[in-house]
Amino acid sequence: MDIQAALTLLENLMVEQEREDLNSLQREIICKCWSGQTYDDMEIQGYASGYVKKYAAPNLWKLLSEVTGEAVSKKNLKIVLIELQKRRSSCPEETPEGKEVPKLMNNTHFCWADAPDVLVFFGREKELATLEQMIKQGYRLVTLLGMRGIGKTALAVHLCTRFFGEFEYVIWRSLDRQLPPPLTELLDDLLQVLSDKLQIDNSINIGDRLTLLIKYLSQHRCLLILDAYENLFSSGKLAGHYLKDYENYGELLRRVGAAKHNSCLVLTSWEKPREVVFLERDTQGIVSVKLEALETAAAKEIFKQHNLADEDKWEELIDRYEGNPLALKIVAAMLQKDYAGSVSNFLEEFTLFLGDIQYLLYQQFNRLSEVEQKIMYCLAISQTPVTRHQIRDTIQPQVLSSEMLDALESLRRRSLLETVKAESKALFTLQPVVRKYLNLQFRGR
Ligand SMILES: Nc1ncnc2c1ncn2[C@@H]1O[C@H](COP(=O)(O)OP(=O)(O)O)[C@@H](O)[C@H]1O
Ligand SMILES: [Mg+2]
Repeated sequence: MDIQAALTLLENLMVEQEREDLNSLQREIICKCWSGQTYDDMEIQGYASGYVKKYAAPNLWKLLSEVTGEAVSKKNLKIVLIELQKRRSSCPEETPEGKEVPKLMNNTHFCWADAPDVLVFFGREKELATLEQMIKQGYRLVTLLGMRGIGKTALAVHLCTRFFGEFEYVIWRSLDRQLPPPLTELLDDLLQVLSDKLQIDNSINIGDRLTLLIKYLSQHRCLLILDAYENLFSSGKLAGHYLKDYENYGELLRRVGAAKHNSCLVLTSWEKPREVVFLERDTQGIVSVKLEALETAAAKEIFKQHNLADEDKWEELIDRYEGNPLALKIVAAMLQKDYAGSVSNFLEEFTLFLGDIQYLLYQQFNRLSEVEQKIMYCLAISQTPVTRHQIRDTIQPQVLSSEMLDALESLRRRSLLETVKAESKALFTLQPVVRKYLNLQFRGR
């Protein structure tokens, strides 16, 4: 649905309910929210931003709530309208006497104040279709994996907006904080939401709290998202080692993954939790999905949004950044600002510009164990893919074969390693952006 279709839908609703049409200020607020602007970004001629934020927008959401029959806010505007559109197009034409507005969904409770606004989202239809199948088949634990910036969080938000009608509760909790909540705190928070404010006795242990949670997950069909799960893992160790005092999150995954219930827990993470590795091996209803590059057509939409020129060169630029939406957004913003949008000029000047992307890679690289870091440097200096034996011969001081295998597996779980198959041998290599980053680090050493 695009903004024009959204405005048309609202216009139709206003007419059907014999209300006055939206005024130009209201339309402008809707358009700006639709394109992802914050209230502070909104520049609306003739109106102070404080007025828009404090008066005009709240009144507009109140009006739209009455019109759609749903509690509309800036955050869920798009979801409500998309869902309403879907319902209207699947409903038979209005009966002559009835001008009823179809009631939205089965009253899903949304608890997702800390979910980001992702109003602009392109492509990923294949992934959404796969996820839809999994939801319909009753998968209990789904892990979205992939490099930083590849679009895990954005996809999870869209999963909620697309399929929330399947669930009674949609609960989003972000672990992307300096200090993520200890498991007890998270469980109490979830139990409060699901039980409608149950007072939890402090003497109940974690095992019993988990049992209680499973009970609610069986009684209600919930979509529970834990975003940025990698924040629970520690640096300097192999992938999937929990930070001290967060180890019991593993129990949450084991219990939710193994027990019978009607809900779905979705994790987004750079690193695959060990529990998922074991559970998905021999339990049905548990899966991890690795996000790869954004499709070219969708990536081009990002460039269109930034008004870049030289469309014939876009694919080259997308390939260089491996279709990572965050990297594409950073590069597109820089091109717009410093190159007047000219992709050709930029490509002539740079083979691969990292800019702010370095910071993202720094965060991810910093978490690696010593052996993992050595493997990464070894792969960075080799221009062609290499075998495990070649890596082992290069690393100084030498490491045990078992240590190497663990470290390679760990790098794979962190989505940092590319594997190429050649004559029944596995060869290892890096994505160009990662290679470039490591070479820059190497020179700086
Ligand atoms: N399919 C997409 N279409 C448009 N923008 C996207 C898409 N996927 C991700 N983005 C944008 O790219 C950036 C990184 O995405 P995000 O979901 O935060 O990545 P991750 O969670 O994997 O680190 C965000 O600004 C997000 O809005
Ligand atoms: Mg994220």
